[in-house]
Amino acid sequence: MKNIIITGGAGFIGSHVVRRMVANHPDLHIINVDALTYAGNLENLKDVEGKSNYEFVKLDITDGASVEALFSSRKIHGVIHLAAESHVDRSITNPLDFVMTNVVGTVILLNAYKAYGDTENGRFYHVSTDEVYGTLGDEGKFTETTPYDPNSPYSASKASSDHFVRAYHETYKLPIVISNCSNNYGSHQFPEKLIPLMIHNITHNKPLPVYGKGENIRDWLWVEDHARAIELIYFKGVNGETYNIGGNNEWKNIDLVHKLCEIMDRKLGREPGESAQLITYVTDRKGHDFRYAIDASKLENELGWTPSVAFDQGFEKTIDWYLENTEWLGRVTSGAYADYYSAMYANR
Ligand code: NAD
Ligand code: DAU
Repeated sequence: MKNIIITGGAGFIGSHVVRRMVANHPDLHIINVDALTYAGNLENLKDVEGKSNYEFVKLDITDGASVEALFSSRKIHGVIHLAAESHVDRSITNPLDFVMTNVVGTVILLNAYKAYGDTENGRFYHVSTDEVYGTLGDEGKFTETTPYDPNSPYSASKASSDHFVRAYHETYKLPIVISNCSNNYGSHQFPEKLIPLMIHNITHNKPLPVYGKGENIRDWLWVEDHARAIELIYFKGVNGETYNIGGNNEWKNIDLVHKLCEIMDRKLGREPGESAQLITYVTDRKGHDFRYAIDASKLENELGWTPSVAFDQGFEKTIDWYLENTEWLGRVTSGAYADYYSAMYANR
């Protein structure tokens, strides 16, 4: 059986990718490598826990000796690398954590794959973000040839890791692919990110902190469509290539929050307009990118991928998941979350 390592499989997107790969590829042995940081949660993977083609290894990718021990102990066919520090606001407070995991951790994995992996037949797939391209004005979209221009410590660290992955292809002929995706929404997302944070706050009648004037724009994609694109690119992408992934679904933050409030009013039996009264404009994020929008035509034309779920449908399903999983939300917001929340929002 071929061994495929998925890093960051206990996180938001990673857990969707692991579930999909375990279910669709019984001929592959999926090894989920995750350090279980605040964002990693094995509860996200309960349904694959007992599967014979699934294994979990708790490991920090910045721990070079442990990574080498894992890669040298058995033949690794391929890697799908998602492990990262992923939250822009945290990167503004602690940039070095992002350098360590996103840059150093990625290079450690590249070295291990180069030394011990099946570089003849397998590949190293690096999952990245559209934020490496910087920010857009009112017009245009990011393509695969848009120059890198990262603005936050998070996007600078992801851009750096992308460059290392590409450099290992050019220098050592490592078989690699990279994808750069827009904002994901869906189940199991840690409630530091806009949508689950707002759902959590609406449920508890807490203020809804909208940064600046709420005019920044994001291009939202259903997480399962991202996971499907990752599976497709892993098997069918061309070595050395980059693929942009996006939802063709732009929303101004404030419009998205209003839409969420309307749906939540209906689902919680509140008066129309009740939840929107919680909206509170707060100090803007430092260096806040104005607009992201992805041109995914390369992926559509070359590999035949398109988003499968209309936003209205995916958004409603997402909200239902959080409302049906209040215990999950309660557990991930207990403990350190309260400290994070007050450090980030108390005096904003
Ligand atoms: P997440 O924060 O939900 O999960 C990250 C996972 O990585 C967690 O399980 C965590 O425990 C693990 N991890 C963190 N540091 C680690 C380390 N040092 N060693 C091992 N494991 C570690 O992130 P996400 O939103 O699921 O994002 C996954 C990937 O997709 C990231 O690379 C991110 O840059 C990229 N991405 C995210 C989005 C988005 O909208 N969330 C969009 C495009 C790309
Ligand atoms: O574009 C892809 C990126 O999308 C990924 O690479 C990142 O890992 C992911 O976190 C996400 O980054 P954003 O910064 O766009 O996502 P976030 O959910 O943090 O914020 C979305 C928008 O909402 C952004 O313009 C900031 C704003 N916002 C966010 C929070 C948490 C608020 O107005 N209030 C908030 O409380």
